[in-house]
Amino acid sequence: MIPRAIIDEIVARNELEEVIGRYVTLKRAGSNYHGLCPFHSEKTPSFTVFPATHSFYCFGCGAGGDVISFIMREENLDYVGALEFLAARAGISIPADDTPEDRNAIPRKRVYEMNLAAARFFRECLFDEQLGGEGLRYLTENRALSTATIRHFGLGFAPNSWDMLTKTLKRQGFSEDEIIAGFLGKRSEKSGRVFDLFRNRVIFPVIDTAGNVVAFGGRVMDDSKPKYLNSSYTPAFKKSRHLFALNFARKHAEERLILCEGYMDVIALHAAGFENAVATLGTAITSEQARIFAKYTKQVVICYDSDNAGQTAANKAMRLLGEVGVDVRVLKLEGAKDPDEYIKKFGADGFSRVLDQSMTGFDFRLARILGEYNIALPDEKIKASGAVCQMIADANSEVEREISIRKAAEVMGVSAEAMRADTDRIRKKRISEMRKKQSQDAQMSVKSFGDRINVDAAKNIRASRAEETVLGLVLMDDGFRKEVAENSELLSPEDFFTSFGRRVFDAICRLERSDDGFSKALLGQEFNADELGRIEKIELERRNLVRNDREVFLAAVGALKNEASVLSDEDKFADLRRKQEALKEAKERKKT
Ligand code: UTP
Ligand code: MN
Repeated sequence: MIPRAIIDEIVARNELEEVIGRYVTLKRAGSNYHGLCPFHSEKTPSFTVFPATHSFYCFGCGAGGDVISFIMREENLDYVGALEFLAARAGISIPADDTPEDRNAIPRKRVYEMNLAAARFFRECLFDEQLGGEGLRYLTENRALSTATIRHFGLGFAPNSWDMLTKTLKRQGFSEDEIIAGFLGKRSEKSGRVFDLFRNRVIFPVIDTAGNVVAFGGRVMDDSKPKYLNSSYTPAFKKSRHLFALNFARKHAEERLILCEGYMDVIALHAAGFENAVATLGTAITSEQARIFAKYTKQVVICYDSDNAGQTAANKAMRLLGEVGVDVRVLKLEGAKDPDEYIKKFGADGFSRVLDQSMTGFDFRLARILGEYNIALPDEKIKASGAVCQMIADANSEVEREISIRKAAEVMGVSAEAMRADTDRIRKKRISEMRKKQSQDAQMSVKSFGDRINVDAAKNIRASRAEETVLGLVLMDDGFRKEVAENSELLSPEDFFTSFGRRVFDAICRLERSDDGFSKALLGQEFNADELGRIEKIELERRNLVRNDREVFLAAVGALKNEASVLSDEDKFADLRRKQEALKEAKERKKT
Protein backbone atom coordinates (compact mmCIF):
# COMPACT_ATOMS: atom_id res chain seq x y z
CA MET A 1 0.00 0.00 0.00
CA ILE A 2 1.30 3.41 -0.98
CA PRO A 3 1.04 5.92 1.88
CA ARG A 4 -1.72 8.45 1.61
CA ALA A 5 0.62 11.42 1.79
CA ILE A 6 2.57 10.13 -1.20
CA ILE A 7 -0.65 9.64 -3.16
CA ASP A 8 -1.63 13.22 -2.40
CA GLU A 9 1.74 14.45 -3.48
CA ILE A 10 1.58 12.45 -6.70
CA VAL A 11 -1.79 13.99 -7.51
CA ALA A 12 -0.64 17.48 -6.56
CA ARG A 13 2.46 17.30 -8.69
CA ASN A 14 0.74 15.91 -11.79
CA GLU A 15 -1.49 18.65 -12.94
CA LEU A 16 -4.52 17.18 -14.66
CA GLU A 17 -4.67 19.61 -17.61
CA GLU A 18 -1.03 19.09 -18.27
CA VAL A 19 -1.09 15.30 -18.05
CA ILE A 20 -4.19 15.01 -20.23
CA GLY A 21 -2.79 17.64 -22.59
CA ARG A 22 -0.12 15.11 -23.56
CA TYR A 23 -2.74 12.75 -24.91
CA VAL A 24 -5.57 15.02 -25.98
CA THR A 25 -5.60 18.38 -27.73
CA LEU A 26 -7.50 20.53 -25.29
CA LYS A 27 -9.27 23.75 -26.15
CA ARG A 28 -10.25 26.25 -23.54
CA ALA A 29 -13.99 26.76 -23.05
CA GLY A 30 -14.59 29.18 -20.22
CA SER A 31 -13.01 27.78 -17.11
CA ASN A 32 -12.92 24.25 -18.55
CA TYR A 33 -11.26 22.49 -21.46
CA HIS A 34 -12.81 20.44 -24.26
CA GLY A 35 -11.26 17.85 -26.49
CA LEU A 36 -11.96 14.72 -28.49
CA CYS A 37 -12.36 11.82 -26.12
CA PRO A 38 -9.41 9.41 -26.22
CA PHE A 39 -11.61 6.58 -24.96
CA HIS A 40 -14.21 6.39 -27.70
CA SER A 41 -14.33 7.67 -31.25
CA GLU A 42 -16.16 10.92 -31.79
CA LYS A 43 -16.18 13.89 -34.13
CA THR A 44 -17.45 16.58 -31.79
CA PRO A 45 -15.70 16.94 -28.46
CA SER A 46 -17.58 15.55 -25.45
CA PHE A 47 -14.49 15.13 -23.34
CA THR A 48 -14.25 17.84 -20.70
CA VAL A 49 -11.55 18.70 -18.18
CA PHE A 50 -12.58 20.61 -15.07
CA PRO A 51 -9.50 22.24 -13.57
CA ALA A 52 -11.45 23.50 -10.59
CA THR A 53 -12.30 20.01 -9.37
CA HIS A 54 -9.20 18.34 -10.87
CA SER A 55 -11.46 16.01 -12.76
CA PHE A 56 -12.47 15.00 -16.26
CA TYR A 57 -15.61 13.55 -17.71
CA CYS A 58 -16.68 12.41 -21.15
CA PHE A 59 -20.33 13.15 -21.81
CA GLY A 60 -20.19 10.69 -24.68
CA CYS A 61 -18.89 7.51 -23.10
CA GLY A 62 -18.99 8.20 -19.37
CA ALA A 63 -15.26 7.91 -18.75
CA GLY A 64 -14.30 10.18 -15.89
CA GLY A 65 -12.37 10.70 -12.73
CA ASP A 66 -9.11 12.25 -11.65
CA VAL A 67 -5.58 12.15 -12.97
CA ILE A 68 -5.07 8.64 -11.57
CA SER A 69 -8.09 7.16 -13.29
CA PHE A 70 -7.17 8.95 -16.52
CA ILE A 71 -3.82 7.17 -16.52
CA MET A 72 -5.45 3.87 -15.49
CA ARG A 73 -7.51 4.03 -18.66
CA GLU A 74 -5.08 5.65 -21.02
CA GLU A 75 -2.06 3.55 -20.11
CA ASN A 76 -4.12 0.51 -19.29
CA LEU A 77 -2.73 0.19 -15.78
CA ASP A 78 -4.22 -0.77 -12.46
CA TYR A 79 -4.45 1.74 -9.63
CA VAL A 80 -0.99 1.10 -8.22
CA GLY A 81 0.50 0.97 -11.71
CA ALA A 82 -1.02 4.35 -12.52
CA LEU A 83 0.36 5.82 -9.29
CA GLU A 84 3.81 4.49 -10.10
CA PHE A 85 3.58 5.91 -13.60
CA LEU A 86 2.62 9.36 -12.30
CA ALA A 87 5.20 9.26 -9.52
CA ALA A 88 7.95 8.56 -12.01
CA ARG A 89 6.68 11.39 -14.19
CA ALA A 90 6.89 13.86 -11.31
CA GLY A 91 10.16 12.52 -9.94
CA ILE A 92 8.62 11.26 -6.74
CA SER A 93 10.06 8.08 -5.32
CA ILE A 94 7.68 5.65 -3.76
CA PRO A 95 9.40 4.06 -0.78
CA ALA A 96 9.75 0.34 -1.34
CA ASP A 97 11.80 -0.86 1.62
CA ASP A 98 9.78 0.42 4.55
CA THR A 99 6.15 -0.49 4.46
CA PRO A 100 3.62 2.11 5.55
CA GLU A 101 2.53 -0.22 8.33
CA ASP A 102 5.92 0.32 9.91
CA ARG A 103 5.81 4.00 9.31
CA ASN A 104 2.37 4.46 10.72
CA ALA A 105 3.14 2.21 13.65
CA ILE A 106 5.01 5.14 15.17
CA PRO A 107 2.52 7.38 16.94
CA ARG A 108 2.18 10.96 15.87
CA LYS A 109 2.92 12.17 19.38
CA ARG A 110 6.25 10.41 19.37
CA VAL A 111 7.24 12.20 16.17
CA TYR A 112 6.26 15.54 17.70
CA GLU A 113 8.51 14.80 20.66
CA MET A 114 11.35 13.86 18.39
CA ASN A 115 10.86 16.96 16.23
CA LEU A 116 10.90 19.14 19.30
CA ALA A 117 14.18 17.57 20.39
CA ALA A 118 15.55 18.11 16.89
CA ALA A 119 14.39 21.74 16.81
CA ARG A 120 16.20 22.34 20.12
CA PHE A 121 19.32 20.72 18.74
CA PHE A 122 19.21 22.84 15.56
CA ARG A 123 18.71 26.01 17.59
CA GLU A 124 21.61 25.25 19.90
CA CYS A 125 23.82 24.59 16.92
CA LEU A 126 22.89 27.93 15.35
CA PHE A 127 24.07 29.81 18.39
CA ASP A 128 27.22 27.72 18.77
CA GLU A 129 29.98 29.61 16.99
CA GLN A 130 31.91 26.52 16.03
CA LEU A 131 28.98 24.46 14.76
CA GLY A 132 26.70 27.15 13.43
CA GLY A 133 28.57 30.42 13.14
CA GLU A 134 28.33 30.31 9.38
CA GLY A 135 24.56 29.77 9.55
CA LEU A 136 24.00 32.58 11.99
CA ARG A 137 26.02 34.98 9.85
CA TYR A 138 24.06 33.90 6.78
CA LEU A 139 20.78 34.73 8.52
CA THR A 140 21.85 37.99 10.14
CA GLU A 141 24.12 39.34 7.42
CA ASN A 142 22.98 37.94 4.09
CA ARG A 143 19.30 37.83 5.01
CA ALA A 144 19.31 40.76 7.42
CA LEU A 145 17.27 39.04 10.14
CA SER A 146 17.40 40.27 13.72
CA THR A 147 18.18 37.89 16.55
CA ALA A 148 14.67 38.51 17.85
CA THR A 149 13.15 37.33 14.56
CA ILE A 150 15.45 34.30 14.47
CA ARG A 151 14.34 33.36 17.98
CA HIS A 152 10.68 34.10 17.29
CA PHE A 153 10.63 31.63 14.39
CA GLY A 154 12.86 29.15 16.21
CA LEU A 155 15.30 29.06 13.30
CA GLY A 156 18.23 26.72 13.60
CA PHE A 157 21.20 25.20 11.89
CA ALA A 158 21.98 21.65 10.85
CA PRO A 159 25.75 21.28 11.25
CA ASN A 160 27.99 19.96 8.56
CA SER A 161 28.22 16.50 10.07
CA TRP A 162 27.06 13.06 9.00
CA ASP A 163 25.25 12.03 12.13
CA MET A 164 25.29 14.58 14.93
CA LEU A 165 21.52 14.84 15.06
CA THR A 166 21.00 11.09 14.78
CA LYS A 167 23.41 10.50 17.66
CA THR A 168 21.78 13.20 19.77
CA LEU A 169 18.32 11.76 19.19
CA LYS A 170 19.48 8.22 19.91
CA ARG A 171 20.96 9.39 23.19
CA GLN A 172 17.56 10.80 24.06
CA GLY A 173 15.94 7.43 23.48
CA PHE A 174 14.67 7.70 19.92
CA SER A 175 15.17 4.61 17.79
CA GLU A 176 16.66 4.50 14.32
CA ASP A 177 13.28 3.50 12.92
CA GLU A 178 11.70 6.53 14.49
CA ILE A 179 14.41 8.83 13.16
CA ILE A 180 13.92 7.43 9.66
CA ALA A 181 10.13 7.57 9.84
CA GLY A 182 10.32 11.19 11.00
CA PHE A 183 12.39 12.16 7.96
CA LEU A 184 15.33 13.23 10.06
CA GLY A 185 17.63 10.39 9.08
CA LYS A 186 18.17 7.84 6.36
CA ARG A 187 19.85 4.46 6.33
CA SER A 188 22.89 4.23 4.11
CA GLU A 189 22.59 1.34 1.68
CA LYS A 190 26.31 0.71 1.80
CA SER A 191 27.16 0.82 5.48
CA GLY A 192 23.70 0.18 6.90
CA ARG A 193 24.18 3.09 9.27
CA VAL A 194 21.75 5.92 9.77
CA PHE A 195 22.88 9.40 8.80
CA ASP A 196 21.32 12.87 9.10
CA LEU A 197 19.17 14.11 6.24
CA PHE A 198 19.58 17.81 7.05
CA ARG A 199 23.24 18.77 6.86
CA ASN A 200 24.88 22.15 6.55
CA ARG A 201 21.60 24.00 6.11
CA VAL A 202 19.78 26.75 7.98
CA ILE A 203 16.63 25.27 9.41
CA PHE A 204 13.08 26.59 9.36
CA PRO A 205 10.81 24.62 11.66
CA VAL A 206 7.16 24.27 10.64
CA ILE A 207 4.86 24.54 13.65
CA ASP A 208 1.18 23.70 13.57
CA THR A 209 -1.58 25.69 15.23
CA ALA A 210 -1.43 23.44 18.29
CA GLY A 211 2.25 24.30 18.73
CA ASN A 212 3.71 21.00 17.55
CA VAL A 213 6.85 21.02 15.46
CA VAL A 214 5.57 19.08 12.46
CA ALA A 215 8.32 19.46 9.87
CA PHE A 216 11.49 21.23 8.83
CA GLY A 217 12.71 23.12 5.82
CA GLY A 218 16.45 23.47 5.36
CA ARG A 219 18.10 25.99 3.05
CA VAL A 220 21.60 25.82 1.65
CA MET A 221 23.72 28.92 2.15
CA ASP A 222 25.03 29.07 -1.40
CA ASP A 223 23.67 28.31 -4.86
CA SER A 224 23.84 24.55 -4.62
CA LYS A 225 20.83 22.37 -5.23
CA PRO A 226 18.34 21.63 -3.92
CA LYS A 227 17.92 25.09 -2.46
CA TYR A 228 15.49 23.81 0.14
CA LEU A 229 15.14 20.36 1.57
CA ASN A 230 11.76 19.78 3.21
CA SER A 231 10.44 17.02 5.42
CA SER A 232 8.64 14.56 3.25
CA TYR A 233 5.58 12.77 4.55
CA THR A 234 5.90 11.46 8.09
CA PRO A 235 3.33 10.04 10.48
CA ALA A 236 2.97 13.61 11.78
CA PHE A 237 3.08 15.64 8.62
CA LYS A 238 1.39 16.22 5.34
CA LYS A 239 2.54 19.18 3.29
CA SER A 240 -0.86 19.81 1.80
CA ARG A 241 -2.40 20.30 5.24
CA HIS A 242 -0.11 22.87 6.75
CA LEU A 243 0.77 26.48 6.19
CA PHE A 244 4.04 27.94 7.32
CA ALA A 245 3.62 30.50 10.17
CA LEU A 246 -0.10 29.87 10.58
CA ASN A 247 0.70 29.30 14.26
CA PHE A 248 1.42 33.04 14.50
CA ALA A 249 -0.77 34.36 11.70
CA ARG A 250 -3.99 32.84 12.99
CA LYS A 251 -4.07 35.45 15.75
CA HIS A 252 -4.02 38.21 13.16
CA ALA A 253 -6.17 36.50 10.58
CA GLU A 254 -9.66 37.71 11.19
CA GLU A 255 -9.75 40.32 8.43
CA ARG A 256 -7.14 39.04 6.04
CA LEU A 257 -4.26 36.65 5.47
CA ILE A 258 -1.39 37.20 3.09
CA LEU A 259 -0.32 34.15 1.09
CA CYS A 260 3.27 34.13 -0.19
CA GLU A 261 5.47 31.55 -1.82
CA GLY A 262 8.47 31.23 0.46
CA TYR A 263 9.62 30.85 4.03
CA MET A 264 11.79 33.93 3.69
CA ASP A 265 8.92 36.05 2.38
CA VAL A 266 6.83 35.17 5.39
CA ILE A 267 9.63 35.85 7.85
CA ALA A 268 10.42 39.22 6.26
CA LEU A 269 6.75 40.20 6.34
CA HIS A 270 6.30 39.21 9.98
CA ALA A 271 9.46 41.08 10.92
CA ALA A 272 8.06 44.16 9.17
CA GLY A 273 4.84 43.94 11.15
CA PHE A 274 2.65 41.94 8.75
CA GLU A 275 2.04 39.05 11.07
CA ASN A 276 -0.81 37.72 8.97
CA ALA A 277 1.49 36.25 6.30
CA VAL A 278 1.69 32.51 5.61
CA ALA A 279 3.14 30.28 2.90
CA THR A 280 2.54 26.84 1.48
CA LEU A 281 5.44 24.45 1.91
CA GLY A 282 7.09 24.29 -1.45
CA THR A 283 4.00 23.13 -3.33
CA ALA A 284 1.14 24.85 -5.09
CA ILE A 285 -1.80 25.54 -2.82
CA THR A 286 -4.13 22.56 -2.39
CA SER A 287 -7.86 22.57 -1.86
CA GLU A 288 -7.24 21.39 1.69
CA GLN A 289 -5.17 24.49 2.33
CA ALA A 290 -7.82 26.65 0.68
CA ARG A 291 -10.29 25.33 3.22
CA ILE A 292 -7.88 26.20 6.04
CA PHE A 293 -7.90 29.78 4.78
CA ALA A 294 -11.67 29.82 4.74
CA LYS A 295 -11.67 28.64 8.34
CA TYR A 296 -9.47 31.47 9.58
CA THR A 297 -10.18 34.51 7.48
CA LYS A 298 -12.44 36.55 5.21
CA GLN A 299 -9.88 37.80 2.73
CA VAL A 300 -6.72 36.35 1.24
CA VAL A 301 -4.20 38.53 -0.53
CA ILE A 302 -2.05 36.42 -2.81
CA CYS A 303 1.43 37.84 -2.97
CA TYR A 304 3.49 35.52 -5.12
CA ASP A 305 6.77 36.16 -6.89
CA SER A 306 6.46 38.65 -9.73
CA ASP A 307 7.91 36.27 -12.33
CA ASN A 308 5.72 34.42 -14.77
CA ALA A 309 5.67 31.21 -12.76
CA GLY A 310 4.53 33.15 -9.71
CA GLN A 311 1.76 34.86 -11.61
CA THR A 312 0.50 31.65 -13.14
CA ALA A 313 0.51 30.07 -9.70
CA ALA A 314 -1.40 33.10 -8.41
CA ASN A 315 -4.07 32.51 -11.03
CA LYS A 316 -4.54 28.96 -9.79
CA ALA A 317 -4.50 29.88 -6.14
CA MET A 318 -7.17 32.44 -6.90
CA ARG A 319 -9.42 29.80 -8.35
CA LEU A 320 -9.06 27.42 -5.41
CA LEU A 321 -9.55 30.16 -2.86
CA GLY A 322 -12.49 31.60 -4.75
CA GLU A 323 -14.18 28.23 -4.51
CA VAL A 324 -14.12 28.15 -0.73
CA GLY A 325 -15.78 31.53 -0.60
CA VAL A 326 -13.08 33.85 0.69
CA ASP A 327 -12.60 37.27 -0.87
CA VAL A 328 -9.47 36.83 -2.98
CA ARG A 329 -7.11 39.65 -3.91
CA VAL A 330 -3.89 39.56 -5.85
CA LEU A 331 -0.90 41.74 -5.29
CA LYS A 332 1.50 42.24 -8.16
CA LEU A 333 4.79 43.60 -6.93
CA GLU A 334 6.61 45.99 -9.24
CA GLY A 335 10.32 46.53 -8.87
CA ALA A 336 11.09 43.49 -6.74
CA LYS A 337 11.02 39.76 -7.34
CA ASP A 338 9.25 38.79 -4.12
CA PRO A 339 7.84 40.28 -0.89
CA ASP A 340 11.15 39.72 0.93
CA GLU A 341 13.02 41.84 -1.60
CA TYR A 342 10.19 44.37 -1.79
CA ILE A 343 10.31 45.07 1.93
CA LYS A 344 14.06 45.42 1.81
CA LYS A 345 13.78 47.95 -1.01
CA PHE A 346 10.64 49.89 -0.14
CA GLY A 347 10.12 49.22 3.55
CA ALA A 348 7.01 48.30 5.49
CA ASP A 349 5.30 51.55 4.43
CA GLY A 350 5.85 50.76 0.79
CA PHE A 351 4.37 47.31 1.22
CA SER A 352 1.47 48.64 3.21
CA ARG A 353 0.60 51.04 0.37
CA VAL A 354 0.56 48.35 -2.33
CA LEU A 355 -1.35 46.03 -0.04
CA ASP A 356 -4.25 48.43 -0.16
CA GLN A 357 -4.09 48.46 -3.94
CA SER A 358 -4.39 44.72 -4.35
CA MET A 359 -6.52 43.69 -7.28
CA THR A 360 -9.71 41.68 -7.21
CA GLY A 361 -9.61 38.38 -9.03
CA PHE A 362 -11.48 39.93 -11.92
CA ASP A 363 -9.04 42.84 -12.29
CA PHE A 364 -6.15 40.43 -12.17
CA ARG A 365 -7.55 38.19 -14.89
CA LEU A 366 -8.55 41.18 -16.97
CA ALA A 367 -5.03 42.57 -16.70
CA ARG A 368 -3.62 39.21 -17.77
CA ILE A 369 -5.84 39.04 -20.84
CA LEU A 370 -5.06 42.64 -21.76
CA GLY A 371 -1.39 41.81 -21.38
CA GLU A 372 -1.73 39.11 -24.03
CA TYR A 373 -3.28 41.34 -26.70
CA ASN A 374 -2.54 44.72 -28.19
CA ILE A 375 -5.98 46.29 -28.13
CA ALA A 376 -4.86 49.24 -30.19
CA LEU A 377 -5.26 46.85 -33.16
CA PRO A 378 -8.91 46.17 -34.06
CA ASP A 379 -8.28 42.48 -34.70
CA GLU A 380 -6.65 41.94 -31.35
CA LYS A 381 -9.26 44.00 -29.59
CA ILE A 382 -11.97 41.65 -30.89
CA LYS A 383 -10.03 38.64 -29.66
CA ALA A 384 -9.36 40.21 -26.28
CA SER A 385 -12.99 41.13 -25.90
CA GLY A 386 -13.98 37.55 -26.76
CA ALA A 387 -11.63 36.20 -24.11
CA VAL A 388 -12.95 38.66 -21.54
CA CYS A 389 -16.56 37.68 -22.31
CA GLN A 390 -15.67 33.99 -21.94
CA MET A 391 -14.25 34.78 -18.52
CA ILE A 392 -17.21 36.88 -17.45
CA ALA A 393 -19.58 34.15 -18.60
CA ASP A 394 -18.07 31.87 -15.94
CA ALA A 395 -19.68 33.90 -13.18
CA ASN A 396 -23.03 32.54 -12.14
CA SER A 397 -24.21 35.72 -10.47
CA GLU A 398 -25.91 38.18 -12.76
CA VAL A 399 -24.90 41.13 -10.60
CA GLU A 400 -21.30 40.02 -10.72
CA ARG A 401 -21.43 39.69 -14.50
CA GLU A 402 -23.00 43.12 -14.86
CA ILE A 403 -20.35 44.82 -12.74
CA SER A 404 -17.58 43.02 -14.60
CA ILE A 405 -19.04 43.93 -17.99
CA ARG A 406 -19.24 47.61 -17.14
CA LYS A 407 -15.70 47.67 -15.92
CA ALA A 408 -14.25 45.69 -18.82
CA ALA A 409 -16.17 47.72 -21.38
CA GLU A 410 -14.79 50.91 -19.96
CA VAL A 411 -11.21 49.68 -19.78
CA MET A 412 -11.30 48.28 -23.30
CA GLY A 413 -13.28 51.06 -24.89
CA VAL A 414 -16.08 48.89 -26.25
CA SER A 415 -19.79 49.23 -25.61
CA ALA A 416 -21.21 47.50 -22.57
CA GLU A 417 -24.31 46.47 -24.54
CA ALA A 418 -22.19 44.60 -27.06
CA MET A 419 -20.25 42.81 -24.31
CA ARG A 420 -23.45 41.96 -22.50
CA ALA A 421 -24.92 40.47 -25.67
CA ASP A 422 -21.76 38.44 -26.32
CA THR A 423 -21.62 37.19 -22.75
CA ASP A 424 -25.28 36.15 -22.84
CA ARG A 425 -24.73 34.36 -26.12
CA ILE A 426 -21.80 32.44 -24.66
CA ARG A 427 -23.81 31.45 -21.61
CA LYS A 428 -26.81 30.34 -23.67
CA LYS A 429 -24.54 28.30 -25.90
CA ARG A 430 -22.88 26.63 -22.95
CA ILE A 431 -26.20 25.79 -21.33
CA SER A 432 -27.64 24.33 -24.51
CA GLU A 433 -24.49 22.30 -25.09
CA MET A 434 -24.71 20.98 -21.57
CA ARG A 435 -28.38 20.05 -22.05
CA LYS A 436 -27.68 18.41 -25.36
CA LYS A 437 -24.91 16.36 -23.85
CA GLN A 438 -27.02 15.39 -20.91
CA SER A 439 -29.82 14.16 -23.12
CA GLN A 440 -27.37 12.30 -25.36
CA ASP A 441 -26.05 10.78 -22.24
CA ALA A 442 -29.48 9.73 -21.04
CA GLN A 443 -30.31 8.23 -24.45
CA MET A 444 -27.07 6.38 -24.45
CA SER A 445 -27.70 4.78 -21.08
CA VAL A 446 -31.19 3.76 -22.19
CA LYS A 447 -29.84 2.31 -25.41
CA SER A 448 -27.13 0.41 -23.67
CA PHE A 449 -29.98 -1.63 -22.19
CA GLY A 450 -29.92 -1.01 -18.53
CA ASP A 451 -26.96 0.09 -16.61
CA ARG A 452 -23.87 -1.99 -16.77
CA ILE A 453 -22.15 -0.25 -13.85
CA ASN A 454 -25.07 0.12 -11.52
CA VAL A 455 -27.07 -2.97 -12.45
CA ASP A 456 -29.74 -2.48 -9.78
CA ALA A 457 -30.54 1.12 -10.73
CA ALA A 458 -33.35 0.25 -13.14
CA LYS A 459 -35.15 -1.84 -10.53
CA ASN A 460 -35.98 1.16 -8.41
CA ILE A 461 -35.57 4.48 -10.22
CA ARG A 462 -36.76 6.51 -7.24
CA ALA A 463 -34.25 4.99 -4.86
CA SER A 464 -31.37 5.17 -7.29
CA ARG A 465 -32.11 8.85 -7.99
CA ALA A 466 -32.12 9.60 -4.27
CA GLU A 467 -28.88 7.67 -3.92
CA GLU A 468 -27.23 9.73 -6.60
CA THR A 469 -28.35 12.93 -4.90
CA VAL A 470 -26.90 11.85 -1.57
CA LEU A 471 -23.68 10.55 -3.10
CA GLY A 472 -23.24 13.68 -5.22
CA LEU A 473 -23.66 15.88 -2.18
CA VAL A 474 -21.33 13.95 0.10
CA LEU A 475 -18.73 13.88 -2.67
CA MET A 476 -18.82 17.61 -3.29
CA ASP A 477 -19.44 18.93 0.20
CA ASP A 478 -17.17 18.31 3.18
CA GLY A 479 -19.91 19.23 5.62
CA PHE A 480 -22.41 16.65 4.41
CA ARG A 481 -19.67 14.04 4.16
CA LYS A 482 -18.61 14.61 7.72
CA GLU A 483 -22.18 14.44 8.87
CA VAL A 484 -22.92 11.06 7.30
CA ALA A 485 -19.57 9.64 8.36
CA GLU A 486 -20.05 10.61 11.96
CA ASN A 487 -23.68 9.78 12.24
CA SER A 488 -24.64 6.36 10.98
CA GLU A 489 -28.14 6.84 12.40
CA LEU A 490 -28.70 9.50 9.77
CA LEU A 491 -27.88 7.15 6.95
CA SER A 492 -26.12 3.81 6.74
CA PRO A 493 -24.97 1.70 3.80
CA GLU A 494 -27.92 -0.64 4.44
CA ASP A 495 -30.28 2.18 3.51
CA PHE A 496 -28.98 2.03 -0.05
CA PHE A 497 -30.97 0.08 -2.58
CA THR A 498 -28.35 -0.53 -5.24
CA SER A 499 -25.25 -2.45 -4.36
CA PHE A 500 -23.13 0.03 -6.31
CA GLY A 501 -24.54 2.96 -4.32
CA ARG A 502 -24.00 1.07 -1.10
CA ARG A 503 -20.37 0.33 -1.95
CA VAL A 504 -19.65 3.94 -2.87
CA PHE A 505 -21.31 5.29 0.24
CA ASP A 506 -19.53 2.81 2.45
CA ALA A 507 -16.14 3.62 0.93
CA ILE A 508 -16.67 7.37 1.31
CA CYS A 509 -17.64 7.02 4.97
CA ARG A 510 -14.74 4.72 5.75
CA LEU A 511 -12.23 7.07 4.17
CA GLU A 512 -13.76 10.07 5.89
CA ARG A 513 -13.43 8.34 9.25
CA SER A 514 -9.85 7.22 8.63
CA ASP A 515 -6.95 9.16 10.12
CA ASP A 516 -6.04 10.80 6.85
CA GLY A 517 -9.57 11.70 5.91
CA PHE A 518 -11.34 11.43 2.58
CA SER A 519 -9.69 11.93 -0.76
CA LYS A 520 -11.12 11.07 -4.15
CA ALA A 521 -7.67 9.94 -5.17
CA LEU A 522 -8.07 6.92 -2.88
CA LEU A 523 -11.26 5.60 -4.46
CA GLY A 524 -9.17 3.88 -7.12
CA GLN A 525 -8.17 1.34 -4.50
CA GLU A 526 -11.70 -0.03 -4.50
CA PHE A 527 -13.31 0.89 -7.81
CA ASN A 528 -12.40 0.17 -11.40
CA ALA A 529 -12.07 2.82 -14.09
CA ASP A 530 -15.68 2.49 -15.27
CA GLU A 531 -16.97 2.82 -11.75
CA LEU A 532 -14.74 5.83 -11.14
CA GLY A 533 -16.25 7.40 -14.24
CA ARG A 534 -19.71 6.88 -12.81
CA ILE A 535 -18.71 8.37 -9.48
CA GLU A 536 -17.36 11.41 -11.31
CA LYS A 537 -20.60 11.75 -13.22
CA ILE A 538 -22.68 11.60 -10.07
CA GLU A 539 -20.67 14.41 -8.52
CA LEU A 540 -20.54 16.45 -11.70
CA GLU A 541 -24.27 16.37 -12.22
CA ARG A 542 -24.81 17.49 -8.66
CA ARG A 543 -22.40 20.36 -9.02
CA ASN A 544 -24.24 21.57 -12.07
CA LEU A 545 -27.53 21.82 -10.25
CA VAL A 546 -28.59 25.10 -8.75
CA ARG A 547 -29.76 23.81 -5.40
CA ASN A 548 -27.41 21.79 -3.31
CA ASP A 549 -28.47 22.83 0.13
CA ARG A 550 -29.44 21.05 3.29
CA GLU A 551 -33.07 20.74 2.33
CA VAL A 552 -32.18 18.83 -0.83
CA PHE A 553 -29.82 16.65 1.17
CA LEU A 554 -32.34 15.79 3.87
CA ALA A 555 -35.07 15.18 1.32
CA ALA A 556 -32.87 12.66 -0.48
CA VAL A 557 -31.86 11.00 2.79
CA GLY A 558 -35.53 10.83 3.73
CA ALA A 559 -36.45 9.34 0.39
CA LEU A 560 -33.80 6.66 0.76
CA LYS A 561 -34.90 5.77 4.27
CA ASN A 562 -38.45 5.69 3.04
CA GLU A 563 -37.69 3.42 0.13
CA ALA A 564 -35.73 1.19 2.46
CA SER A 565 -38.57 0.92 4.93
CA VAL A 566 -41.18 0.42 2.20
CA LEU A 567 -39.07 -2.39 0.87
CA SER A 568 -38.59 -3.98 4.22
CA ASP A 569 -42.33 -3.62 4.93
CA GLU A 570 -42.98 -5.41 1.69
CA ASP A 571 -40.54 -8.07 2.71
CA LYS A 572 -42.20 -8.48 6.07
CA PHE A 573 -45.60 -8.56 4.43
CA ALA A 574 -44.51 -11.21 1.98
CA ASP A 575 -43.09 -13.17 4.82
CA LEU A 576 -46.28 -12.97 6.78
CA ARG A 577 -48.28 -14.01 3.75
CA ARG A 578 -46.04 -16.99 3.21
CA LYS A 579 -46.47 -18.02 6.81
CA GLN A 580 -50.25 -17.63 6.65
CA GLU A 581 -50.35 -19.66 3.48
CA ALA A 582 -48.19 -22.34 5.00
CA LEU A 583 -50.52 -22.42 7.99
CA LYS A 584 -53.57 -22.60 5.76
CA GLU A 585 -52.02 -25.40 3.78
CA ALA A 586 -51.23 -27.28 6.96
CA LYS A 587 -54.84 -26.90 8.12
CA GLU A 588 -56.16 -28.09 4.77
CA ARG A 589 -53.88 -31.05 4.94
CA LYS A 590 -55.13 -31.86 8.45
CA LYS A 591 -58.75 -31.69 7.26
CA THR A 592 -58.16 -34.16 4.48
P1 UTP B 1 11.88 30.43 -3.70
O1 UTP B 1 12.90 29.85 -4.61
O2 UTP B 1 11.13 31.63 -4.14
O3 UTP B 1 12.61 30.65 -2.32
O4 UTP B 1 10.88 29.26 -3.37
P2 UTP B 1 12.48 31.79 -1.21
O5 UTP B 1 11.60 31.32 -0.12
O6 UTP B 1 12.20 33.10 -1.81
O7 UTP B 1 13.91 31.71 -0.62
P3 UTP B 1 15.10 32.68 -0.82
O8 UTP B 1 14.58 34.05 -0.62
O9 UTP B 1 15.68 32.44 -2.16
O10 UTP B 1 15.98 32.20 0.27
C1 UTP B 1 9.71 29.48 -2.65
C2 UTP B 1 9.44 28.31 -1.75
O11 UTP B 1 9.40 27.10 -2.49
C3 UTP B 1 9.93 26.05 -1.73
C4 UTP B 1 10.28 26.63 -0.37
O12 UTP B 1 9.18 26.44 0.49
C5 UTP B 1 10.49 28.08 -0.69
O13 UTP B 1 10.31 28.89 0.43
N1 UTP B 1 11.12 25.46 -2.37
C6 UTP B 1 11.93 26.18 -3.18
C7 UTP B 1 11.43 24.16 -2.10
O14 UTP B 1 10.71 23.47 -1.35
N2 UTP B 1 12.53 23.59 -2.65
C8 UTP B 1 13.38 24.29 -3.45
O15 UTP B 1 14.40 23.74 -3.90
C9 UTP B 1 13.04 25.62 -3.74
MN1 MN C 1 11.36 33.75 -3.52
